Amino acid sequence: MSAALPGVALKRAVSRRKSIIMVIAKVWQLVRRPEGEPTVEDFLCVEEELPACSEGDVLVEAVALSIDPYMRYKARQIPLNTPMFGSQVAKVVESKNPELPVGTHLVHYEGWRTYTVLTSQHLKDKEHFGVMCLPEMGDLPKSLGIGILGMPGNTAYFGFLDICKPKAGDVVLVNGAAGAVGSAVVQIAKLKGCRVIAFAGSDEKVAWVKELGADHAFNYKTMNIGEALSKVAPKGVNIYFDNVGGKFTAQALPHMADYGVVSLCGAISTYNEEVDIGVPSLRSPFNEGTVIWKQLHIEGFLVFRWKARWMEGLKQLREWIEQGKLKYKETVFQGFEKMPSAFIGLFHGENTGKTVVVP
Ligand SMILES: NC(=O)c1ccc[n+]([C@@H]2O[C@H](COP(=O)([O-])OP(=O)(O)OC[C@H]3O[C@@H](n4cnc5c(N)ncnc54)[C@H](OP(=O)(O)O)[C@@H]3O)[C@@H](O)[C@H]2O)c1
Repeated sequence: MSAALPGVALKRAVSRRKSIIMVIAKVWQLVRRPEGEPTVEDFLCVEEELPACSEGDVLVEAVALSIDPYMRYKARQIPLNTPMFGSQVAKVVESKNPELPVGTHLVHYEGWRTYTVLTSQHLKDKEHFGVMCLPEMGDLPKSLGIGILGMPGNTAYFGFLDICKPKAGDVVLVNGAAGAVGSAVVQIAKLKGCRVIAFAGSDEKVAWVKELGADHAFNYKTMNIGEALSKVAPKGVNIYFDNVGGKFTAQALPHMADYGVVSLCGAISTYNEEVDIGVPSLRSPFNEGTVIWKQLHIEGFLVFRWKARWMEGLKQLREWIEQGKLKYKETVFQGFEKMPSAFIGLFHGENTGKTVVVP
């Protein structure tokens, strides 16, 4: 492995030596634990010479790389000087596996890298979502396989429908509502006949969320959350799909109706809060008195709980897209060198919809 400057233009270095094709991948490593908000200096772009494919292996090229909030947690967990964890849509460019011919698109979780040799072992590892074929996408962009037709889409689908069990007329609160997960939850809630109150971080995002069908949408940076909820949900919120956590949740919780349900999807507002490097803050926004008196049901989840029903979610989401009932946006960063800045941008609300890097 040799160090390379971030921002160096991607090139596929292929040289023919003794008729072996040598491929050089670019890889972003985590070289320092972020202190609070991640910085570009926490990452280093290196070149890695890949082994030749053996029987059963495939060489894949990244087509679209995913940028997700959970990566902030991974930056506490993975060993330093190893590739940043992450998923991507990739295309098979060399195959010694008859089941995955050249041109096949798949999703894998081998991290922030341009090329990858997926060995027969990777391909067998169905336990940890090692490698999955893309669902049938028709003319839709392949990048949706890491967005609305992938993990974030299923997070909205199962995390809302299975945990919240919405009924027509329920009042649903969604924050992070212009993001990958939140924008899908807003629309699924409307499809189920709910009344939706959405919060996002800019007036442009608020306008988009209203276009998606939210009955009320507010910019949480300029509007008092409690006052807004008193006004539009005087009888209380039945379902709260929480992407943000922290102070937002502390302010929203008193507005829950009795027996309300909170689907605890994420807490992005707290991900950079630490008591020490690598040790997340322990503050809880859940006032026990409120939870008990209102008899709330609060359930956290990880989307991979629904692994066995994965394709069911994607099939329904695709149908809704084709019927014009489910809209999506992507914020696309061009260039593999943008991986760290795209990631940091999540914490400043730079994205609308799913954040994708196209190398
Ligand atoms: N449980 C699971 O299995 C699972 C799976 C996927 C995602 N998640 C969680 O779901 C949430 C949304 O994920 P996503 O992929 O859809 O990301 P996303 O919403 O597309 O992107 C993150 C957004 O969070 C908002 N944000 C950032 N810092 C904030 C702060 N301090 N306060 C309020 N909002 C802030 C920003 O939007 P604004 O401009 O609106 O501030 C930003 O655009 C995250 O918490 C993530 O960890 C959970």
